[in-house]
Amino acid sequence: MHSFLLLVLWAALGLTSSNIHQHHIETLMDNALVLRVPDSVGSMVEVPLTCGAAYQPHEVFWKKNGEELTPAVQGNHITVLVKEMKAGNYSCHLTSTGEYLNHTLILVQLDPDNRTVILEEKSPQEGHIHCSALNYNGSFHCNWKKTQQRSHATVLLIKASRYQEEISCVLDADGSGVLCQDVECPYKEEKHPIHLTIYMISHFRLEAYTKSFYLREIVRPEKLPNLHITSGQVFRWDYPDTWEKPQTYFGLHFQVKVLQSGQSCNSDNFILNNLTEETVFDVNIKSKKYVFCVRAQDKHARGPWSHWSQCM
Ligand SMILES: *[C@@H]1O[C@H](CO)[C@@H](O)[C@H](O)[C@H]1NC(C)=O
Ligand SMILES: *[C@@H]1O[C@H](CO)[C@@H](O)[C@H](O)[C@H]1NC(C)=O
Ligand SMILES: *[C@@H]1O[C@H](CO)[C@@H](O)[C@H](O)[C@H]1NC(C)=O
Ligand SMILES: *[C@@H]1O[C@H](CO)[C@@H](O)[C@H](O)[C@H]1NC(C)=O
Ligand SMILES: *[C@@H]1O[C@H](CO)[C@@H](O)[C@H](O)[C@H]1NC(C)=O
Repeated sequence: MHSFLLLVLWAALGLTSSNIHQHHIETLMDNALVLRVPDSVGSMVEVPLTCGAAYQPHEVFWKKNGEELTPAVQGNHITVLVKEMKAGNYSCHLTSTGEYLNHTLILVQLDPDNRTVILEEKSPQEGHIHCSALNYNGSFHCNWKKTQQRSHATVLLIKASRYQEEISCVLDADGSGVLCQDVECPYKEEKHPIHLTIYMISHFRLEAYTKSFYLREIVRPEKLPNLHITSGQVFRWDYPDTWEKPQTYFGLHFQVKVLQSGQSCNSDNFILNNLTEETVFDVNIKSKKYVFCVRAQDKHARGPWSHWSQCM
């Protein structure tokens, strides 16, 4: 039934398909083409492939995903028909069994690319990619999570830039995050956001995930170190080692919470809840059994809060 439908569609499209769809073919990078199709069902695109001018004198043979095509396809310039998501990696060889010469990876991307299946959405506000930085030195890390059904998907390409300046990024060993370094004078006032695009492939389906942000929106101080009681009920802590210096310029402020023992720092059921700019706090209450929690935020940029540090 399905193949019959396809045949009918093919017949209906037959006369017009040959050139009409070619403007949906884009070069993503060396050796990789992207077909932008409105729907995965019923799409058919003819794609011209070239082995390369250097191999012009040879009678080259083509393979798809390492397998010979049947019937055999020969010639430096060929055209392949890509139906739906059945794209692939086309390689040309000197003889039908012989030496590899060149290849073109053909990928299919939905247009618009808003029906994504490869990455999980973290939240409607955050989207699919979470980015964070420990300070303003230009290093930032982003991560994502593949859906269970697409755990085999891989990252094809990463692009990051800020106002036409490229930012270099290195993929994490496990393929689920990226560490980037913006070298363009990171401490000056940010006028332009950072744009990040992660190109993911699952079989030969391509999805592009994008995120735009200012560093000041993602800088989250590290968990406060060295939280301890000095005398009586006076608590002290330090600025994180990774935070910017001098502290007089890159100031943090701190949220202090005191809760009944057993409560979590996130609980609204607190005994005391204060904001301070000091790294010391005197808990002036009678009870001796409580949880003391403290976390930090950039007091000017008011970006994300650090994780809580706590002391029983
Ligand atoms: C190999 O194929 C790519 C297209 O995928 C083409 O741009 C490139 O020029 C070819 N290489 C050579 C050596 O001809
Ligand atoms: C495509 O095939 C070429 C040649 O066999 C190989 O080097 C390349 O890694 C393949 N690319 C992908 C994404 O499978
Ligand atoms: C994708 O975008 C198109 C056009 O903007 C829209 O009609 C469609 O509802 C969107 N689909 C989803 C799943 O968001
Ligand atoms: C930026 O700060 C982080 C956290 O302290 C550090 O790991 C990284 O190496 C720093 N990068 C540069 C370029 O100084
Ligand atoms: C904590 O906040 C309360 C209410 O805003 C205020 O009355 C109290 O003085 C503050 N305590 C300290 C130690 O800052």
